[in-house]
Amino acid sequence: MNSFLLFLDQKFMTSKKRIGILTSGGDCPGLNAIIRAVVKFSTLKEWEVFGIHRGTDGFIEIAQGKVQAEDLKLQDHGYDVPGVLQGLDVLQFMSGSVLGSLSHGNPEDDQVTQDILEGYQRLGLDALIAIGGDGSLDIIYDLAKKGNWNLVVIPKTIDNDVAFTERSVGFDTARNTVTQALYDLTFTAASHERIIVVQVMGRDAGHLALHAGIAGGADCILIPELTPQLNENLIEGMCNYIAKLRQDGRRFALIVVSEGVRNLDNQKDPYIAETLAHLLKDNSHRLCNIDNGRYNVLCQVDTRATVLGHLQRCGVPSSFDRILATVFGIKAVRLIEEKRFNRLVIWENGAVESKSLEQIMPLIKWCHQENSCPAPVDPEGFMVMTALSLGIYLGESHYHPKTVSIDSFTNNNNSAPIMQNPVSQS
Ligand code: F6P
Repeated sequence: MNSFLLFLDQKFMTSKKRIGILTSGGDCPGLNAIIRAVVKFSTLKEWEVFGIHRGTDGFIEIAQGKVQAEDLKLQDHGYDVPGVLQGLDVLQFMSGSVLGSLSHGNPEDDQVTQDILEGYQRLGLDALIAIGGDGSLDIIYDLAKKGNWNLVVIPKTIDNDVAFTERSVGFDTARNTVTQALYDLTFTAASHERIIVVQVMGRDAGHLALHAGIAGGADCILIPELTPQLNENLIEGMCNYIAKLRQDGRRFALIVVSEGVRNLDNQKDPYIAETLAHLLKDNSHRLCNIDNGRYNVLCQVDTRATVLGHLQRCGVPSSFDRILATVFGIKAVRLIEEKRFNRLVIWENGAVESKSLEQIMPLIKWCHQENSCPAPVDPEGFMVMTALSLGIYLGESHYHPKTVSIDSFTNNNNSAPIMQNPVSQS
């Protein structure tokens, strides 16, 4: 054994353990990189790792005897490719989840709960690492309480809306994907002098739209935290903004709308970009007809909508996501070794930490009950202030660039005004 392995061995090796790992909820880039890190570090310790298929549903199959523990054992280098690439460890490069991330079973159904708990017991696990967003967290936390599981949770989601962590695995790659899409769309928008409205995922949080909108050069960014719904004022404000752009010589525009923004009837709208594109076109022409002198530049306005959809959950994980996934995976194994269970691994001030689930679950459960986002964009945070300082239109906001103070840019003031979430993501 070389000296580094010996060091690891002495420092960390305690009794051998059997641990389980599962991915739950929507997939995102970086899940496989977490699995890889957990398996590698555990293998060094001679622990056994069992990969549960299809989220907690995998336990049901075990309870029903359809799958045996041996079938689920994960091996370091278990995913080698053939030919001259043999030996290449591909897992961290692939998005999706090799374990599957789909849970059909409803844990509110007593039989389903019983089966899941029985499956866990049959495996004889010392601990479980669950990789999930806040929806999965809620469900798995309840199961863990009922089954007395030793749980460690790793946050993942392209929405970056898991409370108490500045970053979730998957967000950075999705941000790059959306940024690249905006860059690409710029040239067709410019060639046709069009307004292109781009619909970005994020559920009820605007982090992805705001970050990528800034990086991708958007002219307007609508996020639910600042623009909960479309209204006449907003549409007119956008038309005025477009008129100003055109007067200044920019005849095209890129508008990013986060999917959490509701339509004129205050309803969630799966085609919100299309809805907005029509409203902008109709209102531009209406204004032009009312006051051709002032709004002449709006007469020819043409709009298109692009929904980026699930492409945002794909792609080779970025280096940041691979690193985050790796340090999160290693941290989870360490927590198990130190017997510090029922914790969420988090990213805070550029370092990996963890937080007790007991402490964070009340906020998460309350948010689910109230249908509100546990970690929204801070409307007074540095990212909003940055967008405003660039002159990006964010709706009929109260904030004005001239009022931006230096404090906004050193934002670690931990005072997200919407929720008492001590970590402010944007
Ligand atoms: O939570 C991740 C996410 O991609 C959201 O951004 C989006 O609203 C949702 O999942 C889409 O879910 P589904 O894949 O079930 O359509």
